[in-house]
Amino acid sequence: GFKSRLGRLVMDWRPVLGVMSGNHSHVVVMQAEGARSIPLSGHVGFDSMPDQLVNKSVSHGFCFNILCVGETGVGKSTLMDTLFNTKFEGEPTQHNQPGVQLRSRSYELQESNVRLKLTVVDTVGFGDQINKEDSYKPIVEFIDAQFEAYLQEELKIKRTLHSYHDTRIHACLYFISPTGHSLKSLDLVTMKKLDSKVNIIPIVAKSDAISKSELAKFKIKITSELVSNGVQIYQFPTDDETVAEINSTMNGHLPFAVVGSTEEVKIGNKMAKARQYPWGTVQVENENHCDFVKLREMLIRVNMEDLREQTHTRHYELYRRCKLEEMGFKDTDPDSKPFSLQETYEAKRNEFLGELQRKEEEMRQMFVLRVKEKESELKEAEKELHEKFDRLKKLHQDEKKKLEDKKKVLDDDVNAFKQRKTATELLQSQGQQAGGITTLKRDKDRKK
Ligand code: GTP
Ligand code: MG
Repeated sequence: GFKSRLGRLVMDWRPVLGVMSGNHSHVVVMQAEGARSIPLSGHVGFDSMPDQLVNKSVSHGFCFNILCVGETGVGKSTLMDTLFNTKFEGEPTQHNQPGVQLRSRSYELQESNVRLKLTVVDTVGFGDQINKEDSYKPIVEFIDAQFEAYLQEELKIKRTLHSYHDTRIHACLYFISPTGHSLKSLDLVTMKKLDSKVNIIPIVAKSDAISKSELAKFKIKITSELVSNGVQIYQFPTDDETVAEINSTMNGHLPFAVVGSTEEVKIGNKMAKARQYPWGTVQVENENHCDFVKLREMLIRVNMEDLREQTHTRHYELYRRCKLEEMGFKDTDPDSKPFSLQETYEAKRNEFLGELQRKEEEMRQMFVLRVKEKESELKEAEKELHEKFDRLKKLHQDEKKKLEDKKKVLDDDVNAFKQRKTATELLQSQGQQAGGITTLKRDKDRKK
């Protein structure tokens, strides 16, 4: 692993350092763009840069995170144990899970002087539900959550990325059941959902269950189905000349057909990991029996660093870009001129302040409007009251006038009556007097 990494490092540095011949006294310096090339007249020592980098990396340690996606009992735990030649804890899952979950376990491993922090994430209950429509969701969410955690760390004011435990998934081993038919729709849907988020390495699990000729056909069938469904699986890189040949050969062997076992069986005079059957023995590390060694070589010895790099530069970059764009950040303004984060921030701030002001103004106007409305409502009510009062007043006056008129009529009547009464009384009294006179006259007449 390190040698190839070193090779790549040297290649990366070439434009800057120039290509140096092994002989220090005679240094050929390549012209870097925009820089003047100066021949060195003696050994300076910056040719140790790659060694410095390696030393630093080794002392810091490495981390690698594997996600195993596959149905319950397909052989995930066994393969991990076989790959890392150890026994990770882990008990079999029941088939009655209500949904898919992910289980993550981290381990500190050491090989010679290199420390590796390995995280193995397992799906729990994958493929066990009757309705498998949402089975991919928890997996996608898990991967995104790891990206999000890293992004949040990156966006912090006080970042501690050098000591940050990176949990982003570097490789996803997708376990395909050894049916010999074709991919299940669950497999296709899940891989399609994952392919832009993680490096998918499909493997045919328990490949000792398929005959050799069937396996060849099965592999072709799987590959063609992946292609026709547009599923992007991880391709071993062929741009680094030190590993180009082996990687391009191995790309042709995908998906790897693997067998897992931690059982040691005596083969010849050596012990080897194998599965024993009544009719014979399947040796895990025998390339004629399965592709286990190919997988281990490709995943761990040759391309571990590329998997880490791809995770950071492709998948995480995509997540980060989408997330920042979602938040409204852009690299260019509408006229496609460069637009810095600072400017975006200020533009956003101004936009926000403007919006706030607009809202405030809106509220104020609404308030004024409401006050006006209430005012006119009150005025209307007042007017109505006044009108009612006036009406009542008029009614009252009319009534009063009517009563007064009546009173007057009555008064007149009373007066007229009184007058008549007095007149009558007068007449009556006059009548009596006249009667008296008549009597007197009659008396006088009688005396005569
Ligand atoms: P869960 O964690 O419960 O989902 O299962 P798993 O995917 O981790 O499967 P596990 O490794 O526990 O293996 C389940 C059974 O399959 C065990 O009995 C293993 O011995 C057996 N097994 C594992 N790998 C292989 C293999 O390559 N070939 C065959 N034939 N059997 C295997
Ligand atoms: Mg397991």
